[in-house]
Amino acid sequence: MTAKAATARPADPCCLVIFGASGDLTHRLLVPALYRLGAAGLLPDAFALIGVARRESSNDAFRADLEKSLPKFATRKVDAAVVKKLLAGVAYVQGEPEDARTYDKIRRELARLEREHGTQRNRLFYLATPPVAFAPIGCQLGESGLAREDNGAWRRVIIEKPFGTDLASARALNRKLLGILKEDQIFRIDHYLGKETVQNILVLRFANGLFEPIWNRDHIDHVQITVAEALTVGRRGNYYDASGALRDMVPNHLFQLLSLVAMEPPARFAADAVRAGKAELLDAVQLPTRDEALHNAVRAQYGEGTIDNRAVEAYRDTPDVKPDSTTETYVALKLMIDNWRWAGVPFYLRTGKALRRKLTEVAIKFKQAPIAMFRDTPIENLAQNYLVLGIQPNECIGLEFNAKVPGPSIAIGGVGMTFKYEDYFDVAPSTGYETLIYDCMIGDAILYPRADGIEAAWHVVQPFTDAWRDAGGNGLAAYRAGSDGPAEADQLLARDGRRWRAIA
Ligand code: BG6
Repeated sequence: MTAKAATARPADPCCLVIFGASGDLTHRLLVPALYRLGAAGLLPDAFALIGVARRESSNDAFRADLEKSLPKFATRKVDAAVVKKLLAGVAYVQGEPEDARTYDKIRRELARLEREHGTQRNRLFYLATPPVAFAPIGCQLGESGLAREDNGAWRRVIIEKPFGTDLASARALNRKLLGILKEDQIFRIDHYLGKETVQNILVLRFANGLFEPIWNRDHIDHVQITVAEALTVGRRGNYYDASGALRDMVPNHLFQLLSLVAMEPPARFAADAVRAGKAELLDAVQLPTRDEALHNAVRAQYGEGTIDNRAVEAYRDTPDVKPDSTTETYVALKLMIDNWRWAGVPFYLRTGKALRRKLTEVAIKFKQAPIAMFRDTPIENLAQNYLVLGIQPNECIGLEFNAKVPGPSIAIGGVGMTFKYEDYFDVAPSTGYETLIYDCMIGDAILYPRADGIEAAWHVVQPFTDAWRDAGGNGLAAYRAGSDGPAEADQLLARDGRRWRAIA
C-alpha cells in the first residue's frame, strides 16, 4: 500500500520454493515480479529460489530457462546485474507433489542454499500448481516438517486461486490446511489485491473526509462493477469449461472489489481489522432463493464475432471445450446488501470474456438532484453523477457531473473531471504479484483474504451455481464475441429503470 511503500525496506532473508515451476505462471508472472522487486531493492541480499516440478531438468537448465524467459515477460528493459543477483542461488527439484521423496530432495536443497546464501531458514512455499495439488502439497509440507516454524525462522505458504470450486470444497481445503499450518502462515492469493488501483479504493474512501459522508443509501443510487475482458478462453478450455465465468472471477476478483467499495471503515489499517470488515460485508449480502437467483442473474456464452478486427471463434469451438458446453463465459448479477449503509442500493456486477475491450471499473452512481429548478431541461439531457474508479487499463478516478453550457440561456451539459495515476506517479505497469510476494515475505497479510472471507464469498455464489446446475442449459443466453454482452444483461438493469455504462 502507499503507506507501506513510503517505508519499504528489503524483505527478510528467505528461500522461495515454487511448486509448479515449469508452468506458465512461474515464467510469465512470478519470476518477472521477483525481478522487479530485485530491481527496486526490495529483495533481500540473502535470497535463494528452488523450482519444483514433474518435468526432468537440472539446476543449470532451470536457471537458463528463467534467464531466457525473463526478457520476454519483463515490463522494462532487463538489467543483467539484477538478474545475476536474483538467480545467484537457484536449484531445481524434480518430483511428484504427492511423493514424500520429493520433499526429501527439497530438504537437501534447502539445507545447502540456506547455508550458502544465509537465508536464515525463512521459507516461502509458493503453490503455483493446478488446484488438485494444493491439499497433497500442504499435507506433505506438514508431514515432512518443512513448513514447521522453529527457532524464530518463519515458514509461509502462498496458495494460488482457485481456492475451492464451491463452498464445500473451499471449507474442506481450509480445514485441511489449518490442520497443518496456522492461519498466519497461509497466504491465499488474489492478484486483484496487488493492483494499485484496487488498493487505492480504501485510501480514497478512508483517507479523504470528502467521500465517506455521502457513501451510503441516502446519496448513492446504485453501484456497477465491471470486469470485462477482450481475451477469449484461448488455450484454457480445459480449466475454463469446468469453471465458467462465475467461479473464475466472481468469488475472488469481483467480490474483492465489492467488499472494498462497500465495507465499513476498519478500526485500524491492519490485516485482521481489514479482513474482518471485508468478510462481514460479504456476510451481509442477501442470499437469494432458487427463483431469485435465476431472476437476478444472467449467464451467457459467446458465439463467433470480431474483436479488434480479428475474427473470433465461438466458445464451443475452443479446443478442449465440449461442443455442447453450457458453461457461461459471461455473468451479470444483481446483489443487495442487508445492512444500514446499503439497504435498498443494488450492486450490479458483470464480467465476461470476448467482450468489446478490456475494462475494469467500479462506477458509483449518485442519486439524481431534485431538478425542479431546471424543469425546462429534459431529464435525459442531464448528466448522471458517476464517480468512476478506473482499475484497468486506464488507471484513473473520474467524476461526471452537470455544468452550465456557456451562453445567455441556462442550458446544462454533462462534463467530467479525471485524475490519472500516470500524471502524478511514475508507475511501471505491474501485475500486482510483486506487492503480494513482497508482503508475504515481510509477513503482512492485509492484502490476502482470510479463511472466513473466502468462505463468505463462496456462500454468496453457491445459490447461483446451484440454481444453474438444476436449470442445466435452460436460461443460458448468447452474445456475439466483441459485443458489450447479452441483451438479457441490459434487461436486468432496464427492469429497475437503469442501464449499464458502455464498455467503451
Ligand atoms: C484470472 C482468471 O484469475 O484473472 C482469468 O483466471 C482472467 O480468467 C484473469 O483472465 C484476469 O486478470 P486481469 O489482471 O487481466 O484482470
